[in-house]
Amino acid sequence: MSKRSNTVKKILVTGGCGFIGSNFIRHIIDKDYFVCNLDKLTYAGNLDNLKGIEGRKNYKFIKGDISDAKTVEGIILKFDVDIIVNFAAESHVDRSILGPEIFTKTNVLGTQVLLDVSRNCWSRKGYKGKRFVQISTDEVYGSLGKSGKFKETTSLAPNSPYSASKAAADLLVNAYRQTFGYPAIISRCSNNYGPYQFPEKLIPLMIINAISNRKLPVYGDGLNVRDWLYVEDHCSAIEAMIRKGKLGEVYNIGGNNECQNIKVVKLILKELGKPLSLISYVADRLGHDRRYAMDAGKIMRELGWRPKHRFEKGLKDTVRWYLNNKDWWKKIISGEYQQYYRKIYKGR
Ligand code: NAD
Ligand code: TYD
Repeated sequence: MSKRSNTVKKILVTGGCGFIGSNFIRHIIDKDYFVCNLDKLTYAGNLDNLKGIEGRKNYKFIKGDISDAKTVEGIILKFDVDIIVNFAAESHVDRSILGPEIFTKTNVLGTQVLLDVSRNCWSRKGYKGKRFVQISTDEVYGSLGKSGKFKETTSLAPNSPYSASKAAADLLVNAYRQTFGYPAIISRCSNNYGPYQFPEKLIPLMIINAISNRKLPVYGDGLNVRDWLYVEDHCSAIEAMIRKGKLGEVYNIGGNNECQNIKVVKLILKELGKPLSLISYVADRLGHDRRYAMDAGKIMRELGWRPKHRFEKGLKDTVRWYLNNKDWWKKIISGEYQQYYRKIYKGR
């Protein structure tokens, strides 16, 4: 590291082989950063997401677990890490209903290891220039009724094992801030969509099923609402938080793009020229949150961030990406995904 310029910030990205993490690495790799990507390569981690990046001089991949303190310490010391952006997580609500334990292990205990180890390493020389960005989610706020939006001051009221584990991690991050003066920021973002999203999530699942003329399984009445943000806009918000975010703050991120699930599904079918008869209403998800909507006014006012992508255009681009990258998703859906799919959808 000593040969690297002092002006280059050294970032540890955890979970950089997943959907948002890999988009984030692509977003910053041509800028003044050295990026170390620590990823366990779970079912959701995919080296193909970073094809073309591997050989870059300012990039290093390390396969490992955020819960492994020795690995984390080795990375922070070896690369003299300034910034940690923690994407690493178990991220799918349906999987958290099938098996919550790994969600607590990774999302809560893993985050705690990152906090502890970085605190020990960083506090030796003082926290100047250091920061930890916890990538959280709107789901920690629970579910909304017909009106209102989540603000940063909204009480946490998570309903799924996934969102409960993310809320627990947020509370830990806040506790380290309050107790140790640890330099942390929390981002809470709404549902992302875009290239490289694992096919278990709503939008890629529906695109891939529609392309393959398979049924599109809509949970419940299809009227649940999510507030969609193109992944690139999430990445630019995280970069704004790294560069200008105030330590100790929480920033909500959202695209002001509320949409009922059934409407999203119909837009996808229309874009692909497929019939509505592919839609199949199936039994609802347990504890299914009805509506999420973000008030992202704070990050807009304080950091000058704005989303650049309109939902309908972003969705069209995403459909095009899945059409143009069939090899990417065919490899995924031919593996463990088959068993997962049967477990979640068979007989539903
Ligand atoms: P993802 O499931 O696509 O990727 C998660 C990545 O983390 C994978 O590469 C996986 O291998 C890695 N990982 C898992 N456990 C690990 C461990 N113990 N150690 C190291 N790496 C590990 O998830 P995503 O959709 O990219 O989400 C990234 C983060 O953003 C998560 O923290 C999630 O809670 C948050 N988030 C996601 C969304 C969304 O819509 N996808 C919205 C808001 C916030
Ligand atoms: P998902 O992409 O799993 O994100 P989250 O639950 O974290 O918001 O689901 C988005 C919405 O789509 C959610 O209301 C559940 C619904 N959904 C379906 O109707 N069918 C599906 O097969 C999936 C995966 C999700």
